[in-house]
Amino acid sequence: MSFTLNPLSEALGAEIVGLDLSRPLDKPTFDAVHQAHLDYLVLVFREQDLTPAQHIAFSERFGPLDIHPADDAVLTEHPEILLVSTRRENGRYIGLPDGGPKWHSDISYREKPSLGSMLYGIEIPEEGGNTGFANMYKAYETLPADLAQAIEGKRGVFLAGRNNAKQTFRRTLNDAQKAKTPPVSHPIIRTHPETGRKSVFANEQHTIAIEGLPEDDSDAILSELFAHCARPEFAYFHDWRPADLTFWDNRCALHIADLTRLDDPAYLRHMHRTTIQGDAPF
Ligand code: OGA
Ligand code: MN
Repeated sequence: MSFTLNPLSEALGAEIVGLDLSRPLDKPTFDAVHQAHLDYLVLVFREQDLTPAQHIAFSERFGPLDIHPADDAVLTEHPEILLVSTRRENGRYIGLPDGGPKWHSDISYREKPSLGSMLYGIEIPEEGGNTGFANMYKAYETLPADLAQAIEGKRGVFLAGRNNAKQTFRRTLNDAQKAKTPPVSHPIIRTHPETGRKSVFANEQHTIAIEGLPEDDSDAILSELFAHCARPEFAYFHDWRPADLTFWDNRCALHIADLTRLDDPAYLRHMHRTTIQGDAPF
């Protein structure tokens, strides 16, 4: 099978047109997709028509899947699929109404954070609901010298739901789910296990401290680091079309949800996400 690949921005991202992911890709095609993912960090497969089982089958080609800690926001028949949905039933969100209000890397608060996530846009609003992606190789390569020195050899402390206290409208993990996700630490500069390239691995949503530093110093360095990682030249904002399947690399890219219309009753956005398990960062 052949496909067309079109880069989406200077920073990262490419769209793939002409592939049907509902059937198994042959080995050469899979290898080409895999390489494109390593090269572009974010792939957008256009015009997909996928059942949950097909979405899961394609995801599993990249590795075993994780079940999200929000285990009441997953499909009952297919717990590997997390609902990212603004739909409510009986006044309660059926899934997570957004995947993340701050720049983040999925489940970076686990010992083994995610390799990548595949988000499938089933119902897409006319306006709003874009997803931003940012290239953390570029963030690493352009670190100002003082900041590079401040984080050299340091480990970050990661915890689920850092900013949840301020987001009362949003579903958060309940106490039992939180108890299953104690804080972990990871190197702030990590080496990608497949490309061998270094990137910044810290994010505003889950990284709460730098290990071994006084809180004030840690807070100051992290806020400078988060501002650096959010520089517009590292980012691409994806304007979803229905039937897009987006696959990002959580090891070297961050992403962020646009929540500006979340309170608008006319706003409906309904998606399925799989999360591929990764290795412990080094
Ligand atoms: C996610 C996520 C962003 C969005 O699904 O992990 O962060 O725009 N989604 O919904
Ligand atoms: Mn996310």
